[in-house]
Amino acid sequence: MKQIYNFSAGPAVLPKPVLERAQAEMLDWHGSGMSVMEMSHRGKEFTSILAKTEADLRTLLNVPDTYKVLFLQGGAIAENAMIPLNLLNGHAADYAITGGWSKRSVEDASAYGKINVVTSTEATHYTDVPSFSDWQLNKDAAYLHICTNETMSGVEFDGLPDAGNVPIVADMSSHILSRVIDVSQYGVIYGGAQKNIGPAGLCIVIVREDLLDRASPLTPAVFNWKTQAENQSMINTPPTYSIYIAGLVFEWLLAQGGVPAIEQQNIAKAALLYDYIDSTDFYTNKVALNNRSRMNIPFFLADESLNEAFLKGAEVAGLLQLKGHRAVGGMRASIYNAMPIAGVQALVSYMQAFEQAH
Ligand SMILES: Cc1ncc(COP(=O)(O)O)c(C=O)c1O
Repeated sequence: MKQIYNFSAGPAVLPKPVLERAQAEMLDWHGSGMSVMEMSHRGKEFTSILAKTEADLRTLLNVPDTYKVLFLQGGAIAENAMIPLNLLNGHAADYAITGGWSKRSVEDASAYGKINVVTSTEATHYTDVPSFSDWQLNKDAAYLHICTNETMSGVEFDGLPDAGNVPIVADMSSHILSRVIDVSQYGVIYGGAQKNIGPAGLCIVIVREDLLDRASPLTPAVFNWKTQAENQSMINTPPTYSIYIAGLVFEWLLAQGGVPAIEQQNIAKAALLYDYIDSTDFYTNKVALNNRSRMNIPFFLADESLNEAFLKGAEVAGLLQLKGHRAVGGMRASIYNAMPIAGVQALVSYMQAFEQAH
């Protein structure tokens, strides 16, 4: 098979050893005679998979015992509704808009109560995270919602605002497990799996236990975090195969040395691409230096009439899914945990050759 590097923003590249293991275990998981897809979610086989997956995630992120880990469906966008339903409780909430995904979160949450936008970079096309001292935070907000890595525009937080006692709720869909974080600084962390965790269909929610008592009575049981926590995420049938693959990814990550080790690789990969982009006028990245995402790197050709030729040549070279998000344009290279440095080297070589040819 030709060497392919997949730069999709999600669903995205998975570690090859994970796919090979899933292939080997496809028909018969650990001598059970069943595929994971065929198992009852309440049987001993699958409950052991779920328990190990949760334990490994807790190890990777060093999740304190005072937090519940939920494996839910509906993706990150479903959480846009579940967050206000579980937390607003008649109060208002603060939201920061630093990109298309956090803007979408505000739009969705506004149906459930009062939302105060504490900062917005929409007018400047999402190229930075404004200085936290300029945010109009409310001391009595039910929570502060942020998206710590904006996948479309490639804007990543390099710190956290001081929200006092207001719990921070963070959409980490596109950079969870890519860098060391201190879970105790957050009230809720959530993310769709289809970037750094596994296949689509699974959303992980990590929630501080003291926040589990605030849900509106209108919250559907499947989306009520407390009900799900009390039922091991099994108030409905969970996305079993996606959870199984997530578990294999967590095992792979632990074998790489965990999050601190993968973070070093991510720093090196991102530096390779940004350094090259910054070395030439042929390509540009418009994001403020301290907010440049390590996971999603948008870039533009100075001559945009070459976009189609760039993408066609990339595909021939085995470099796939480099087209930028339709709301942003240009190109975007998503280089998640599973992208080897060789993939970024291949991309930079292609970009250099393309520049020379044009
Ligand atoms: C940061 C962020 N939030 C939310 C979403 C939406 O996720 P989903 O489609 O799983 O609901 C995405 C998807 O790409 C994302 O990148």
